[in-house]
Amino acid sequence: MNARDSEHMIAELNREEAYELTENLQDADLIIINTCSVREKPVAKLFSEIGVFNKHKKPTAKIGVTGCTASHLGEEIIKRAPSVDFVLGARNVSKITQVIHKKHAVEVSTDFDESTYDFAEYRSNPFKAMVNISIGCDKSCTFCIVPATRGEEISIPSALIVGEITKAVATGAKEVMLLGQNVNNYGRRFGGDEAPCDFTQLLRKISKIDGLERIRFTSPHPLHMDDIFLTEFANNPKICKQIHVPLQSGSTSLLKAMKRGYTKENFINRCEKIRALCPEASISTDIIVGFPSESDADFEDTMEVLEKVRFEQLFSFKYSARPHTEAAAFTDQIDSDTAGERLTRLQSRHTEILDEIMDAQLGVVHQVYFDELKSGGRVSGRSDDGKLFFIQGSEELLGKIVEVEVVKTSRGALDGVLV
Ligand code: 5AD
Ligand code: SF4
Repeated sequence: MNARDSEHMIAELNREEAYELTENLQDADLIIINTCSVREKPVAKLFSEIGVFNKHKKPTAKIGVTGCTASHLGEEIIKRAPSVDFVLGARNVSKITQVIHKKHAVEVSTDFDESTYDFAEYRSNPFKAMVNISIGCDKSCTFCIVPATRGEEISIPSALIVGEITKAVATGAKEVMLLGQNVNNYGRRFGGDEAPCDFTQLLRKISKIDGLERIRFTSPHPLHMDDIFLTEFANNPKICKQIHVPLQSGSTSLLKAMKRGYTKENFINRCEKIRALCPEASISTDIIVGFPSESDADFEDTMEVLEKVRFEQLFSFKYSARPHTEAAAFTDQIDSDTAGERLTRLQSRHTEILDEIMDAQLGVVHQVYFDELKSGGRVSGRSDDGKLFFIQGSEELLGKIVEVEVVKTSRGALDGVLV
C-alpha cells in the first residue's frame, strides 16, 4: 500500500510540474520519506534518516515525511526534527501538492472525502498496475496500529476500479494487484450511494476486462474466506493462484486476545479448502511471535499450523507494542529474548520447508510474466503462483507471458529456460 501511495504522490506532483525521480540525493529538490508504523523499528530509523538527508541534501531541498508514521506522530515529527518541511498522513497523500508549498504543514486527518482516492495516474512498472480497492480498516486487531493511521474502511466504487484497470491495460499492463488492508471485506461501506458488490463480485467484474490476464490481491483476511470466494479464486483463470492467509498465531486463545475472529481449527480448515479446490495454489502468511501472554504451548500451536499448511512464504515478526493499540496495555508482555528464540525456531523450520518446496520445482514448467530487465543480460518475472524467476533474455521478453522450465532452484528464486 505504501508503494502505491508513493505512486499516487508522484502522479499528483507531476500534475503541477514535471518532476523526475533521482537516485542521487544531491540532485533532489524534494525528498519524501514515505513511512510505515506497523512495527517500532522503522519509526526509530526515520529520525536517523532525516538527519542523514538533512546533512547531505542541497540547502534548498525540502524534506517531507508521509505515510503511517506521519499519521500517528503528526506535529511531533517537526518538533523532533525541525528540518522536516511537511508531514502528510497515509490517508492524505492526495494533498501532496498543497503541503509542499506550506512551511511546516501538517495534514494527518483520517476523515474521508472522495479526493482520498482520486488520483492522477503514474506507474513505476509499465507491465503491471497496483490499484487500491479500499482504504482504511474496520477491524480492531489488538496489536495493530493501522486502523488508527489509515482510518475507517471505505470501499472504492467498482466502476472507478474497473475504469482505472482498463486504462492501465490500455497502456501496457497485463497484470493488476488489487490493494487494501482487508480486500475480501470489499463492499462493507462505500463513501456514497453504491449498489452492493462484494469482493467475489468485484473479481468477476474485473476479470471481464479485455487484455487483462492476471489478477492478484493483497491482503485478504482468513475470516472472510467463504466457500464462494475460494471457489471463485480456484476457478477463475485470470486470478493468480497465490493467496496470502495471515495467521498471526496458531493458538486459539491468543487469536482471541488478538481479536482476529477465527480459531486455529477455522484457519486450518480454510487452508485445507484452498488446497482441495486449488492444489496448485501457493499460500503465504504473516506470523507474530511473542504476543503478550504467549506461552510455550501457544507457540507450539503456531508451529503445528506451520507443519500442517506448509506455507510457501512466511513473513514473521517479533511482537512490537504500538501506540493506539489495545495490546500495548496488556500486562503480560513477553521478554525479547524468549520472543527472539521463538522467531529463530519458526524461521529455521520454515526455511527447511521452503527448501523442500523449491527443490521439488526442478524440471517443472510455469507460465512466467516477465516485467523487469536485470543486469547480466537477464530478465525477471513471476509465475502464476508468485514464484520469482530469472532467465537469460532481453527487452523483447518484457510484457510477455511465456512457458519456462526450472533448471536451477534456490530459496528465493528460480532460474529457468524458455521451453
Ligand atoms: N508487532 C509485530 N508485527 C505486527 N504486525 C502488525 N502489527 C504488528 C505488531 N504490533 C504484522 C502482522 C501483519 C503484518 C503486516 O505486520 O503480522 O499481518
Ligand atoms: Fe491491522 Fe487487523 Fe486491519 Fe490487518 S485486519 S490492517 S492486522 S487491524
